[in-house]
Amino acid sequence: MDESQLVTAHQSKSLGSPDGALTLTVGIDEHVNQLWYEVKKEDHAYINKSLLALYGPDEKNFTHTPDALPVEYTSFDETWDQPWGEQRSIHNNYNELAVKGESFTIRFRLFNEGFGFRYELHGESETAITHEETSFNINGNASAWWIPALGQNHYEHLYHKTPIQELGIAHTPLTLELENGGFMAIHEAALYNYGSMNLIPAEQGLKSKITPLSTGNAAEISLPFTTPWRTVIFSDTAVGLTTSRIMLNLNEPSKIEDTSWIQPAKFMGIWWGMFLHYFTWGSGEKHGATTANAFRYINACKEFGIRGLLIEGWNEGWDGDWTQNGDKMNLMQPYPDFDIHAITKYAKSQGVDLIGHHETAGNMAHYEWQLPEAYDYYNTFGVRYIKTGYVSPRSNGKEFHSSQFGVNHYQKTVEMAAERRIMLDIHEPVKGTGIERTWPNLMTREGVMGQEYEGSGAVTPEHTTVLPFTRLLAGPLDYTPGLFNLSGTSRKISSTLAKQLAFYVTLFSPLQMVADLPEHYRGHAALQFIKDVPVNWDTTIPLDGVIGDFFVVARKDRESDDWYIGAITDENERTVTIPLSFLPEYRSYTATIYRDADDADWQSNPEAYVIDTQNVSKETTLTLRLAPGGGCAIRLAIDGETPLPYAA
Ligand code: NOJ
Repeated sequence: MDESQLVTAHQSKSLGSPDGALTLTVGIDEHVNQLWYEVKKEDHAYINKSLLALYGPDEKNFTHTPDALPVEYTSFDETWDQPWGEQRSIHNNYNELAVKGESFTIRFRLFNEGFGFRYELHGESETAITHEETSFNINGNASAWWIPALGQNHYEHLYHKTPIQELGIAHTPLTLELENGGFMAIHEAALYNYGSMNLIPAEQGLKSKITPLSTGNAAEISLPFTTPWRTVIFSDTAVGLTTSRIMLNLNEPSKIEDTSWIQPAKFMGIWWGMFLHYFTWGSGEKHGATTANAFRYINACKEFGIRGLLIEGWNEGWDGDWTQNGDKMNLMQPYPDFDIHAITKYAKSQGVDLIGHHETAGNMAHYEWQLPEAYDYYNTFGVRYIKTGYVSPRSNGKEFHSSQFGVNHYQKTVEMAAERRIMLDIHEPVKGTGIERTWPNLMTREGVMGQEYEGSGAVTPEHTTVLPFTRLLAGPLDYTPGLFNLSGTSRKISSTLAKQLAFYVTLFSPLQMVADLPEHYRGHAALQFIKDVPVNWDTTIPLDGVIGDFFVVARKDRESDDWYIGAITDENERTVTIPLSFLPEYRSYTATIYRDADDADWQSNPEAYVIDTQNVSKETTLTLRLAPGGGCAIRLAIDGETPLPYAA
């Protein structure tokens, strides 16, 4: 063996990022026989020596490391296109170092903005991973924006910022502010057949805690086996974190060859009416999913130019306490007042796509028992989108949604749906880890304290200014934006109307809801923004932001040369200046600016907005005032086909 290609207790091995700025070093700790890694940017250490280990039954260390192990270096550089996303073209460029043991490999990939690594176990047998001891020994003091894992409500919490030593069991993505002013986010990619990774404080920094099965194991597996990638991204600025595509790059290319049927869309819903108590999911006088309501909402979609319509509460099983009745959900039996034949026929004739709905109340076994027939049933009516839901503290009464059991269930639904050309929007999901690259029919998920919590007093204006830097790092988010009636209902909403518009740009989802009742949109000039705004982007440029204070982002449409800007603030009024220097040279645009009125305020006057128009170009700097709890949404429509006269 060539000694220069060995990592030993006395000889560490290093890997540089493609641009040379980051260095990842691996070595062997001979006292505990474990591999360690550390990461630096130039001379500054981000992560100090951090040990790695996976354990099996009887405390067997699967990654027990002898005195010396061979390493292998490779590199990769390609650009690939997404069928939908925040960015059309993605650059995947990394250097790789694999440490090769007899019974395991640990593979590191170092990109310009961070790294990923995973454990690969060799062999042929059935076994269990009882726990994973992956450490992140962060250099210096750090604080994190976090939400608790392994509780009752999964991801549906406000984020709190604390020193990392005060973390409970925290979900990832975990976003850290570092002592030196930089930022870091720890997450994972390609979560398959394994419990989701959470983080807890360790003696030094943080370490992994995998969501257990009810048996207590992290995963029950057959060898050979590969864990998900553990990922870390770095940035000098908070907005810089949002540009990393490491999570997607560490997933496999699409397994769906022809993706032409996978189509982003906006959709209305027989949905918010349930939260306002105008409708019920279950049968009775106020039943929402009736044939008459469905026709009315299809007409509204047509009137407003919105392609999709979600209808919840259409099937038998909602009566009584539906959250406890997953076993009663019959996903092939419409309520008698829901004429699925007539409704789907009418929707088709009006060019409206129905978004079907499967609520499981967390009873994954009962749902699987109805699959794939429940997909085929919708398919016979031409329903190509399905929103699924898993309201319940535990799946099947005992398993965490984010356990290996839950992860495998969700994956089964994604693959069965793909075979039938069905696109999914998963509520109460497991967090996103980029598998939409491989399965682009998994279009969006909830996994957040979403807009449906508005009115219970739980949501703060700050919440949506944290999400772009935390939850959105895990991929598309079905936040259900677009509420226009903010004061006339029992539910007090924590934003202004202009901020609701801005959500379409700041909170990415290729399936994006237009959540309010049709009657709340009529007569509003601001509806034009919702009609215009795309849900699929060519380019995304985050412009400015402070976690928990504000966020400003510009995105270019995929289908045209138009750009859109979204700006949102927390409870504090602020003025943001937006240089439009990202626009191409020699072109002029008409900016339609949907802004908070001068006296708007989320608490006292949330619906007051003004629409201004202005000619702009690359040279323009816009100055925008955002009201307390407010926002601003801008469409930049390119003027004509030809460059400005001074182009020559
Ligand atoms: C919770 C989901 O998040 C919500 O969108 C849905 O309407 C209800 N469950 C009922 O399925």
